[in-house]
Amino acid sequence: MEKNHLDGAGFGTVSVHSGQVKDLTGALAMPIYQTSTFCFDTVEEGTAKFAKEIPGYVYSRGGNPTTAALQEKIAMLEKGEACVATASGMGAVGAVLVAFLKAGDHVICGECVYGCTDFVMRNTLPQFGVEVSFVDTGDLEAVKAAVRDNTAMIYFETPTNPMMTITDISAVSKIAKEKNIRVVVDNTFAPPPVQYPLVLGADIVLHSVTKYINGHGDVIGGAIIGSADDIGVIAANASSKICGTTPSPFNSFLVMRGLQTMELRMERHCKNAMAIAEYLEKNPLVDKVYYPGLKSSPQYELAARQMNHLFSGVMSFELKEGIGGMTSYEACRKLLNHLKLASIAVSLGDPETLVQHPASMTHANVQKEDREAAGITDGLIRLSAGLENIEDILADFQQAFRTLEEA
Ligand SMILES: Cc1ncc(COP(=O)(O)O)c(C=O)c1O
Repeated sequence: MEKNHLDGAGFGTVSVHSGQVKDLTGALAMPIYQTSTFCFDTVEEGTAKFAKEIPGYVYSRGGNPTTAALQEKIAMLEKGEACVATASGMGAVGAVLVAFLKAGDHVICGECVYGCTDFVMRNTLPQFGVEVSFVDTGDLEAVKAAVRDNTAMIYFETPTNPMMTITDISAVSKIAKEKNIRVVVDNTFAPPPVQYPLVLGADIVLHSVTKYINGHGDVIGGAIIGSADDIGVIAANASSKICGTTPSPFNSFLVMRGLQTMELRMERHCKNAMAIAEYLEKNPLVDKVYYPGLKSSPQYELAARQMNHLFSGVMSFELKEGIGGMTSYEACRKLLNHLKLASIAVSLGDPETLVQHPASMTHANVQKEDREAAGITDGLIRLSAGLENIEDILADFQQAFRTLEEA
């Protein structure tokens, strides 16, 4: 279907139809072009394709029809001009940094980001002469104060992993535009139809496609969305050509299939998350619930406006200290080990409800003092609400919490 047939179409329609290309067989589902290279009829044709004088594929690291279809779908869903898919979310993070930073540049990074992103910012970028300041990007005055003459990028997650803190994307983008600074938002926790960072003024959006975009827990993938110019730079110079973070055609096919049900899945994830957050908020063994959809959240108004009243399917919560004389870690361990339906696993956005302990798992490679400064205590648990029936998820948590009451 031509892109312009979808002008004005709803999110569900775009999820189903965008990127679908009719091939010679008329296949309804996008075929998997499982090939490493593409043959030319003549040397002249190959020369012209390399010179980009005629369109066409030459080698799957640089372009593949199945992956191209996926890229078109993701670009349309994020309301961006173009997308480049990567083999993982970290591939997307790396490709953006490699494409747009050089020695002598300065980056403002949100103080609470995914553990491996934190590692790259703290350890890898300085090796290449790039300075990084960690700033609470939810605090606009702190962002303004951190800007330097050589600041080239403001990079943040909203909501953050795992504290669910919200950054006002429009406000940060406004500060950045005045100084010609590129704004990069990791939108993994709140993909469309929840939140549209490009519409709010960000320059680049990236995703761990592994999470909600694929949505079925069977693919590792990433994506970067932005203007055609920026994505052209990333695809040609960083992601596919040099760093080789290209996804396999089979994974691109799976992600396209997953995306067709994105709207239905996100609605259910977010609805289930709200019900779980409300249950946890009333639970006497829980000290704090970090979920921006709760009316008690100090960021509720901003989140409602920015996140289309959907608020993500992820939350974190902290157990009260000293339950049954246990350390915070022991109490978390006991609760999680007694869950029967929810799985202990470090991903999110899957059909299954997942729980994990950030201090010893996703953020274990962050120094303890940096972790605690970001609020990641030993009593914190991250929960990704799955697609199960809410009564069953709640019953599972109720029986696991009973084991803590008995401790
Ligand atoms: C917010 C966020 N960004 C990036 C990543 C990295 O994605 P991947 O695991 O697909 O490399 C993750 C992984 O958990 C994440 O949570």
